[in-house]
Amino acid sequence: MISIDKFKENLKTRFIGQTMYYYKITSSTNDVAKKLAGEKIEEGAVVVAEEQTRGRGRLGRKWFSPKGGLWFSMILKPEIKTADVPKITFVTSLAIANTLRKLFSLKAEVKWPNDILVNGKKICGILTESVTSGKSLKYVVVGVGLNSNVDLKNFPRKLRESTTTLREELKKNVELEHLFSKLLFQIEREYRVFLNGGFKNILNKWKNLTSFIGRKVEVVNVRSKYTGVVQDVDCEGRLVVETSGGFVRRFTAGDVRVVKRPNKDYL
Ligand code: BTN
Repeated sequence: MISIDKFKENLKTRFIGQTMYYYKITSSTNDVAKKLAGEKIEEGAVVVAEEQTRGRGRLGRKWFSPKGGLWFSMILKPEIKTADVPKITFVTSLAIANTLRKLFSLKAEVKWPNDILVNGKKICGILTESVTSGKSLKYVVVGVGLNSNVDLKNFPRKLRESTTTLREELKKNVELEHLFSKLLFQIEREYRVFLNGGFKNILNKWKNLTSFIGRKVEVVNVRSKYTGVVQDVDCEGRLVVETSGGFVRRFTAGDVRVVKRPNKDYL
């Protein structure tokens, strides 16, 4: 169980997490946060649940969210253009990867657009959703799913190969309250850099934590599947891929999979 009192003792943020809505079990913290945000909640309010029954991932996927994980959503109200909202995913993933590195000496990596990997396997996903009124942005809900004290054996079989958890990597449970407060502190720090016009700086730090630039990948988006070499992530957060014939494409959304080089022993 997450003790909110213990969490609050450690929390050193100015606003993120200062208001906390705790649920033992709920459908999806993103859904709860969206409902709350409609009721004039202050920026930085966080919804956390021990367990989600209808956890959601990107592209309408299910997000497996049993007890032992850290499942939470932050309500943010940045004064930015709706088109800039995906940048908040970079802000968040940078902060989370750095926190995992600092606290547990894990070689956490970021993967475009919203994943954090450890040893090439997904340990955390981010679901950033915006709510607009006409053309104006009302608020942003940033949902974070961090596989913490969860046994990999409990994951659905088809996820096991590509997934990992803190328990799996560290061979022990971590103190969720401490981890949670440190995560929110780091997220708030990067978020303030972002609000002060520092996205370039965030992106440079983010790029230092990814191994995907220069790799041959397959990008699948709603339209099609493309193969090419990742050149960069541009200043808008788009993935820049050189596909066959030297044609350069920029992706705003999609799934990326590294195309494995053939094993030399078999050449
Ligand atoms: C992804 O990798 O596709 C994003 C996963 C995001 C999961 C988190 S768990 C807390 C919040 N509530 C949800 O329903 N989803 C996000």
